[in-house]
Amino acid sequence: MDQNNRILIIDDDEGVRETYAGIFIPEKKSYVLSRGQQLFDKETFEPPPLKRRTYDICLAENGLQGIEKATKARETGMPFAVAFIDMKMPGLNGAQTSRRLWEIDPDLKIVIVTAYSEYTPEDIISVTGRDDIFYLRKPFNYEEILQFARALTNEWNLERNRSTLEKNLITANEKLADMNDNLRAKVQQQATLIVQAEKMASVGILAAGVAHEINNPLAFINSNLATIKSYFERIITLYEKMDAVALFLDTLANPAAEELLKDLSEFKEKNKIKDIVEDLDYIADESIEGLNRIKMIVQDLKNFSRLDEMQFEKTDINNAIESALHMVWSELKHKATIEKKLGDIPLINGFPQKISQVFLNLLINASQAIEKSGTITVETKLVHLGRRKGDRFVEINISDTGCGIPEENIKKLYDPFFTTKPAGTGTGLGLSIVYEIIKAHNGDISVHSRLGEGSTFCVHLPLINNS
Ligand SMILES: Nc1ncnc2c1ncn2[C@@H]1O[C@H](COP(=O)(O)OP(=O)(O)OP(=O)(O)O)[C@@H](O)[C@H]1O
Ligand SMILES: [Mg+2]
Repeated sequence: MDQNNRILIIDDDEGVRETYAGIFIPEKKSYVLSRGQQLFDKETFEPPPLKRRTYDICLAENGLQGIEKATKARETGMPFAVAFIDMKMPGLNGAQTSRRLWEIDPDLKIVIVTAYSEYTPEDIISVTGRDDIFYLRKPFNYEEILQFARALTNEWNLERNRSTLEKNLITANEKLADMNDNLRAKVQQQATLIVQAEKMASVGILAAGVAHEINNPLAFINSNLATIKSYFERIITLYEKMDAVALFLDTLANPAAEELLKDLSEFKEKNKIKDIVEDLDYIADESIEGLNRIKMIVQDLKNFSRLDEMQFEKTDINNAIESALHMVWSELKHKATIEKKLGDIPLINGFPQKISQVFLNLLINASQAIEKSGTITVETKLVHLGRRKGDRFVEINISDTGCGIPEENIKKLYDPFFTTKPAGTGTGLGLSIVYEIIKAHNGDISVHSRLGEGSTFCVHLPLINNS
C-alpha cells in the first residue's frame, strides 16, 4: 500500500504558509519566506543534511478553502493524512474548521497551531467534539513540525493498514466459511454417492449369486411344469373318455353298473372334479406365467452385475427411446398420451440395449404412476454443463402427470428392492438398474416431483465418455 504523506495546511498568513512549504519542501523558498520565518525559531530553521521524507502539501488560506480541498481530496480517493490548522483566522477559526473537517474525514490527524494562550485545550475540545487533537504553540521550530508530520502520517498510515487488514481478514474469514460450507456439502454428497455405490456393489455381488443359484432350479421347474401341463392334457382327455364310458353304462340299466355310477357321481360331486378339470389348465398357465416373471427378474439381476463386461458402441438416444416406447406401447396406450419432443442430438458412446432398458423402466414407472389417464412427455436435447468446452451432455427428461413421489421416498428411489407397489407388481429393482446403467455411462440421474402433480426424471449422458 502507498504511504500517504499528504498534508493540508490552513493559515491566513501567506508568510506562514510559505514557511511551511519551505519546511516540507526545502527548495521551495520565496520572497515572503523571510516574513513568515520570523514566527519560527530561526536558529534551527535550516534543514539538516539528512535524507528526508518527502511530503505532498496543500495550502489553504482559510477554513472554508481547507474544507473544500479536504472534500475534494477525499472524493478523489487521496485524503490528507495530517492537517496543520491555525487557530486564529478570519471566518471559521481553527477549532470550528477542525469540527467541519472531521465531519468529512474522521480519520484526519489534526494539529492546531496557536500563538496565543487565549484558547485552552478544553475550549478547543468542546468545539471539535473530539479530544484526539494535537497542539503546537508558536513560535515553534522546524524540527517540531517535521516530528509532528512524521509521527502523525505514520499513525494515519498504520491505522489505515490495520483497518485494511481487518477488512481483508473479515473477507478471508467469510470466504473460508463459504469454502467450508461448500466442502461440507461436497463431502456429504460424496458420502451419499459412496454409500450408494457400495450398496450397488454389494447388491451386484448378491444379485450375481442369487441369479446363478435361482437359474438351475428355475430351469427344471420350467421343464417339469411344461411336462405336467402336457400330462394334465392327457389326464383330462382320459377323464372325458371315462365320462363317455359312464354315459354308455348308464344306458344299460344294469343294477351293478348303476351302483358304480352313483358312487362315481357322488365322488365327483363331493370333490368338485368338474371344477378341478376346468381349473387345471388355467393353473398350469398361471404357474408358467409366474415362472416367466421370475426368469425376467433373474435376467435383470444378471444384467445388473454384468454391465462392466459390455462394449461401448455409437448409440442413438432417440432410437433407444423409440424402441423403448415401442416395447411398452401396449401398457401405455390405455392410460397415457405420449408427447415426444426429440431434439437433434449427436450419437453417444454407450450400450444401446441398456440405454433402452433405462427408458423402458422409466416409462413403465411413469405409466404406473398414472392412475386413470394422463400424459407422459419424453424430451431429448443437447446441453452444456460444466466449464470445459467438451462438457456436452444429452439430456433426457421423462415426465408424467402421475401421483408424484413423497419427499421421504426420493432418497430411497434407487435403493435395490425399494418399492411402494403392491406385492407381485414391482420388485423395486427398476430404478436401481437404471442407476447402475447410467453410472456405467458416466452420466447422472435426478428427479423433480410434486405430490399429486407428477414427476420428471432427468438423465444426463456425456458425449465424450472416458470409460
Ligand atoms: N414416475 C414415478 N412416479 C411416482 N413414483 C415413482 C415413479 N418412478 C418410481 N417411483 C417410485 O419409486 C419406487 C421404485 O421404483 P422402481 O422402478 O425401482 O421399482 P418398482 O417400479 O416399484 O418395481 P420394478 O421397477 O422392479 O417393477 C416405485 O415403487 C415408486 O414408488
Ligand atoms: Mg419400476
